[in-house]
Amino acid sequence: MPVEFLGIAATNDGSETTARSGAAFDKEYTLRLGRAHEDHGWDRVLLAYGSGSPDPAPAAAYLASRLDRLQILLAHRPNVSYPTYAAKTFATLDQISEGRLTVHFITGGNDHEQGREGDTLTKDERYARTREYIRIVKKIWTTREPFDHEGEHYRFHDFVSDVFPVRQPRPDVSFGGSSPAAYAAGGAEADIYCLWGEPLEQTARQIEAVKAAAEAAGRTEAPRIQVAFRPIIAPTEELAWEKAHRTLGAIRQRRRAGSRPGPHRDGVAQAPAPQNAGSQRLLAIAEAGERYDRALWTPTAAATGGAGNSNALVGTPETVASALLDYYDLGVDILSARGYDLLGDAIDFGRYVIPLVREEVAKRDAARAADRTAAAATATAAPDLDRPRTAVRG
Ligand SMILES: Cc1cc2nc3c(=O)[nH]c(=O)nc-3n(C[C@H](O)[C@H](O)[C@H](O)COP(=O)(O)O)c2cc1C
Repeated sequence: MPVEFLGIAATNDGSETTARSGAAFDKEYTLRLGRAHEDHGWDRVLLAYGSGSPDPAPAAAYLASRLDRLQILLAHRPNVSYPTYAAKTFATLDQISEGRLTVHFITGGNDHEQGREGDTLTKDERYARTREYIRIVKKIWTTREPFDHEGEHYRFHDFVSDVFPVRQPRPDVSFGGSSPAAYAAGGAEADIYCLWGEPLEQTARQIEAVKAAAEAAGRTEAPRIQVAFRPIIAPTEELAWEKAHRTLGAIRQRRRAGSRPGPHRDGVAQAPAPQNAGSQRLLAIAEAGERYDRALWTPTAAATGGAGNSNALVGTPETVASALLDYYDLGVDILSARGYDLLGDAIDFGRYVIPLVREEVAKRDAARAADRTAAAATATAAPDLDRPRTAVRG
């Protein structure tokens, strides 16, 4: 299965290291960043959601209407709208983008941030609501007859939408979270399960938890897995590590100055002890060590309080590509990456890392296909013999 790359669609040039130079919604920058991704080999970009941030849905419509190929991953918090309304917004967006929409349903890992927009449920209650919400959205996308819904969080009668997605049977559902409630909800409902980058061993365990949850929900196919990193690349290892330490210094300086983090402003970064399991895991991993595996570096996560996608991969493009391939070999289908200079790093990563990973993935996939063909031929020739098991990814 070809690997996919997810980048970030910020609406301004601010990041953990850099103050934004203009307004929160900088129309020209939004398009320039999206176009840089489209022109440099990325498949899709995430439009994140934060309580005070520009609304990602119209920003997504803007990008989709100006770009031809780039796919959209729209973050959406169920607490901010009714599912009938959201389903129509998504279907309209899928029409505008001609089938390029995936929706990332955010349960919310921080009570304070959720409360900013009136959400008073506990995290576990929020997961139950997200699950009901996703089911309703899926049903609206695929149902041509009016229906009633009587659930725990939503009740409505005689609803049918008059706008349907281009993508059939429906757009993909993406989901993130690292608590047991998250695995249960996402394992049951998600087409794509998103994790923040952790060492290989911990990532493997999370993938197992997602697969077990999918199986427990009666699914025969587990969600595709996405893992996110902050790559820091340079032409030599030495230069990459210098850049990594410079980046860490800039993050610390900005936080000392009391600046807010970048596009993913869910408030977690400001909290001394994050409530969400994903951030708690990142902090515990950083506490236990700075470097893991080939290139994973945790001080960037520690410095931001484990604020979302925050573990770095440091090295030359070759080193970072090899590190990403280790995750592919583990069963990861989608690699998500975001630099600290959003625009420049999207171009560099697209130019120097993406082609290396794609080339190696194509070779690995071809070798696996050949193994499968050979195994099938052996089975046909000697159907009664005990067949050797071929290790097939996924
Ligand atoms: C790839 C990815 C993207 C996310 N994007 C957002 C976002 O834009 N806004 C937000 O508030 N939370 C975002 N989250 C947070 C999660 O959706 C979820 O609310 C949180 O991690 C749940 O906490 P848990 O780990 O305790 O289950 C994202 C998570 C992942 C894995």
